[in-house]
Amino acid sequence: MDRDSRLKLAVQKSGRLTDPSLDLLARCGLKLARGKDQLVGYGENLPLDVLFVRDDDIPDLVQEDVCDLGLVGLNVIEEKRLALAARGIEASFETLRLLDFGRCRLSIAIPEGQSWSGVSALAGRRIATTYPHLLGQFLARHGVRADIVTLSGAVEIAPRLGRADAICDLVSTGSTLAANHLEEVQTVLESHAVLIRTPVALGAVKSDWVERLLMRIEGVQQVRESKYIMLHAPRAALPEIRRLLPGSESPTIIPLEGHPDKVAIHAVCRENVFWETLEGLKRAGASALLVLPVEKMLA
Ligand code: PRP
Ligand code: ZN
Repeated sequence: MDRDSRLKLAVQKSGRLTDPSLDLLARCGLKLARGKDQLVGYGENLPLDVLFVRDDDIPDLVQEDVCDLGLVGLNVIEEKRLALAARGIEASFETLRLLDFGRCRLSIAIPEGQSWSGVSALAGRRIATTYPHLLGQFLARHGVRADIVTLSGAVEIAPRLGRADAICDLVSTGSTLAANHLEEVQTVLESHAVLIRTPVALGAVKSDWVERLLMRIEGVQQVRESKYIMLHAPRAALPEIRRLLPGSESPTIIPLEGHPDKVAIHAVCRENVFWETLEGLKRAGASALLVLPVEKMLA
């Protein structure tokens, strides 16, 4: 297979998105050969190679067609979109899929113990961030003029160093803020991971693999929430039991040998099945309840 028919996908080298990105690719069937400290992982069983880069570089790498695909946070994408617009360039990478990981928020935080009376309190204040464009847009929308201090990292220590009165940074678990005695007071943008692609047309082989990858991602994301549930139930209780099964469209109903008044029900539930659900099903007359994880799914 020639080099050009292999897809190049950029992922974050080290950060919040690295492990879940690699986990998603593994669940999509990719076996990656990667030496220690190597910046390129070679797909052994699929024509897809992974480039490990700084997340902030991913939109450019995709926009400039160095990579065909990129897995990156919406926060990075939107900041880049505004940064390009400020230079009169239109972002042309295309968002292919919203992903169910990397959830976080870009938020404004202030030193613990200070009072907060709303966005207008930021007027005339210095706010440190690595997201100057998103912050600028947010402040403009609120009609607030503040001093944006653009840093390239370690934003959370800026208030302690006397470089800023507040910060605007990503918050995921909140532990970075807590460790630095900062308090989140205002969300600027809700974010999660997305898959983007190059604006340049792909050849037939690559296009085909992008389609297959998207289908597999769809399957992986559905499976994460899905469970396979099996139970026995009196025929008379069927309507109630179907109502209680979370997110299942058409369960399979099987007669039970020697029990004309009972059936077995098998269903894929596209939502998590909680103990409360099982208890409700039991009260409705269900017995022999079994809940299994789903490994793969293809609609
Ligand atoms: C973000 C942010 C914080 C951290 C917050 O970094 O800059 O350092 O995550 O997470 P927490 O609330 O769970 O403590 P990210 O992983 O996006 O890396 P980067 O900013 O260096 O690209
Ligand atoms: Zn980054």
